[in-house]
Amino acid sequence: MQLRTERSQEVAGLENRSLGRGRVGVPVVGLGTWRRLEAAAAAGQEHELVGAAIAAGIQVIDTSPMYGSAEPLLSDALDGRRAQVFIADKVWTPSAEEGVAQLSRAVDWYGGRVDLMQIHNLVAWQTHLPMLEDARDRGLVGLIGATHYSPGSFGELAEVMKTGRIDTIQVPYNPAHREVERTILPLADDLGLGVLLMRPLGEGQLMRRSPSPDQLAPLRPFGVATWAQALIKWGLSDPRVHVSLTATSQPGRLTENAAGGSPPWFGPDERAYVLRLAATT
Ligand SMILES: NC(=O)c1ccc[n+]([C@@H]2O[C@H](COP(=O)([O-])OP(=O)(O)OC[C@H]3O[C@@H](n4cnc5c(N)ncnc54)[C@H](OP(=O)(O)O)[C@@H]3O)[C@@H](O)[C@H]2O)c1
Repeated sequence: MQLRTERSQEVAGLENRSLGRGRVGVPVVGLGTWRRLEAAAAAGQEHELVGAAIAAGIQVIDTSPMYGSAEPLLSDALDGRRAQVFIADKVWTPSAEEGVAQLSRAVDWYGGRVDLMQIHNLVAWQTHLPMLEDARDRGLVGLIGATHYSPGSFGELAEVMKTGRIDTIQVPYNPAHREVERTILPLADDLGLGVLLMRPLGEGQLMRRSPSPDQLAPLRPFGVATWAQALIKWGLSDPRVHVSLTATSQPGRLTENAAGGSPPWFGPDERAYVLRLAATT
């Protein structure tokens, strides 16, 4: 499948990984829009935020009809730069008709095509999946995915993964939430599915207190200068993961967060060290 090619400029250092069984390469740090894009807009900074993401090499931007006005805000903030990003949107509704309408609105907002369309929280996935497959056949959608935030739904997520009908999953993974290590990441690896991480900073909870500069010093040889970078690199150092969706409302944080997506990657010792820091700070 030919996906758009204008997303060509790679920012130095930021690694690219393949989604959809090798069909598209994307930089490993992405941008989430849940609550943070509206916060940026409230400060009149949504165009600056999207511009700063693109300048930092961040190309995957994740959104959803669940995120208030994030989808149209993103569309507006792209402002001629649609071809430089990979849009990961979602359907989120129990209604078949509303699912079709959500896809149609997304296609209009994002220039006639959504690069990845995900079934948000598995809502009515049996209904939406054939609709998305049809949209993919018509060239309106690139890849198809499914998301869930709750370990209580990982059994159902595994069922959807095993249908062989989706290309990606989106799940939470950070030092405080490692449930995906049990079955979801091994299964995704076996099936060759792309894995997008939500909540790499634990929705900001893990940022409430940062380790001291001395505590972060052993991670400096890995290009880590801040706690946010340590947490982002912790998730991406698992090779079964492809994209880490950090979310911020602050344009000035995008270069910092993007730097968590450059090699060298942590080995088992550094990952264990970050776990200890997260548990004790
Ligand atoms: N499908 C689902 O069920 C689902 C559920 C949850 C999330 N998601 C997706 O995953 C994305 C990421 O999840 P998340 O929103 O929980 O993101 P997160 O990256 O884990 O946490 C975001 C929080 O961290 C703060 N932050 C970001 N960079 C920082 C930095 N360098 N230093 C200090 N604080 C920083 C942000 O505040 P500031 O704005 O002040 O920077 C924000 O409060 C969402 O936006 C959404 O797209 C999907």
